[in-house]
Amino acid sequence: MIALDKQVQVVDHPLVQHLLTKIRDYQTAPHKFRRYAISLSEHLVYEACRAMKTREVGVETPVGPAKGVSMTDYVILAPVLRAGLVMAEAAQHLLPAARIYHVGLKRDEETLEAKSYYAKLPDSLPNDCRVFVLDPMLATGGSAVAAIDLFKKMKVENIHLVSFVAAPEGIKKVHSVYNDVHITCASVDEKLNEKGYIVPGLGDAGDRIFGT
Ligand code: PRP
Ligand code: URA
Repeated sequence: MIALDKQVQVVDHPLVQHLLTKIRDYQTAPHKFRRYAISLSEHLVYEACRAMKTREVGVETPVGPAKGVSMTDYVILAPVLRAGLVMAEAAQHLLPAARIYHVGLKRDEETLEAKSYYAKLPDSLPNDCRVFVLDPMLATGGSAVAAIDLFKKMKVENIHLVSFVAAPEGIKKVHSVYNDVHITCASVDEKLNEKGYIVPGLGDAGDRIFGT
């Protein structure tokens, strides 16, 4: 794992980089893209979980007592629609007890501003809960900041953003607003192009996942 700084982790595991290469390939069809994206998400969420708290517990094996741990965090998965849905499916395999709050955001293709169209959150959340915002693409950072805003307004302190690919512009934007947000990704790419796409990126994640 490469830690670009304390808050940004790039997972350089060969399996992660292999899966990333598969989904970057423009020839990868949607049904394969989804399969690779689910595996990639599992690996990235797994890494993002390193910060989770545990408490010591005792356990009886068939042979005798052993020391173990139990995860204590109240975990929330916040997939950003649409593309984040594939990541939520994967994250649920690892964290089956997590609550899932969907966040609907759509980037305006002209202004690149993220517009909210759905957010169904509870009236309150435990302050010490841990939120994983799941969005494959961190481009301008507008969508990520809008999603994080929802939880910051509810006084959540531990927020992780998990993305496949991040642009330097997006990381800068997120950390200019919330410098305590942890970012886990498989790559920090070169830049954004004039249309706000990550270069080289992987194209439009939502379109590639859903074949639209
Ligand atoms: C894409 C992507 C992110 C967002 C990133 O979603 O999945 O949510 O763009 O861009 P930003 O960092 O510049 O905000 P999009 O708005 O295209 O919606 P979709 O997933 O429904 O296609
Ligand atoms: N959203 C995407 O899906 N891809 C990009 O490169 C940028 C934003």
